[in-house]
Amino acid sequence: MSIRMTDVSFHYDRKNPVLEHCSFHMKPGEIVALIGKSGSGKSTMLRLISGLEAPNEGTIYVLDQVVADQQVDKKPNERQVGMVFQDYALFPHLTVKQNVRYGISHLRKEDQEILIQEMLELVGLLDKINKYPHELSGGQQQRVALARALARKPKVLLLDEPFSNLDASLRIQIRNDLSLILKKQEISCLFATHDIHDARHFAHRIIHLADGRIVSDEKCL
Ligand SMILES: Nc1ncnc2c1ncn2[C@@H]1O[C@H](COP(=O)(O)OP(=O)(O)O)[C@@H](O)[C@H]1O
Ligand SMILES: [Mg+2]
Repeated sequence: MSIRMTDVSFHYDRKNPVLEHCSFHMKPGEIVALIGKSGSGKSTMLRLISGLEAPNEGTIYVLDQVVADQQVDKKPNERQVGMVFQDYALFPHLTVKQNVRYGISHLRKEDQEILIQEMLELVGLLDKINKYPHELSGGQQQRVALARALARKPKVLLLDEPFSNLDASLRIQIRNDLSLILKKQEISCLFATHDIHDARHFAHRIIHLADGRIVSDEKCL
């Protein structure tokens, strides 16, 4: 399994549980949409899997290894999980190239250069390599954030509202590009959205969160 959660509960403060006894799993290469109203706990679920929060109960596995339970709490960079956040995706003072380099600075310089070229080519932005985020459109910035996450070669990718802030045609284009990239690199993807159309068009499966619980888990056609 690429991701497995068993009986996970979480609260930021005791009086307001955010997730209660959530369990699900994802197969390698599977694309799953996490859908639910604003405040239903989608981002929190992604933060738990990526290691930015720790569950109060339950166990989280990534690639069949425990990354979080009552004893274990692996650091985000030890989890083989890539995450693209909804906002503040890029560092504004760094160029496109420097942004993509950020997550792979531990590699040899030559390897960094090759990966940066490869990833920017993949998202179709090689010609913007020396631009700053403010010189790019919203969709282009989102693709740079994606390139940065993909450069680390994650087997599991978490995306928080990846298609929000994009107009209709760009939305379709990015959805399609991303599908191909995920397939080509055999990456599993869990993405949060409040848009049922994005979920249906992009995911193999849809998990619905409401009142802190998984209320349905269904395959897309
Ligand atoms: N850092 C935080 N501290 C306290 N409460 C938070 C924090 N982040 C989110 N919450 C609360 O947790 C609940 C779930 O939020 P979130 O996971 O962001 O939902 P969604 O992504 O589905 O909109 C909401 O009630 C929200 O107000
Ligand atoms: Mg959210």
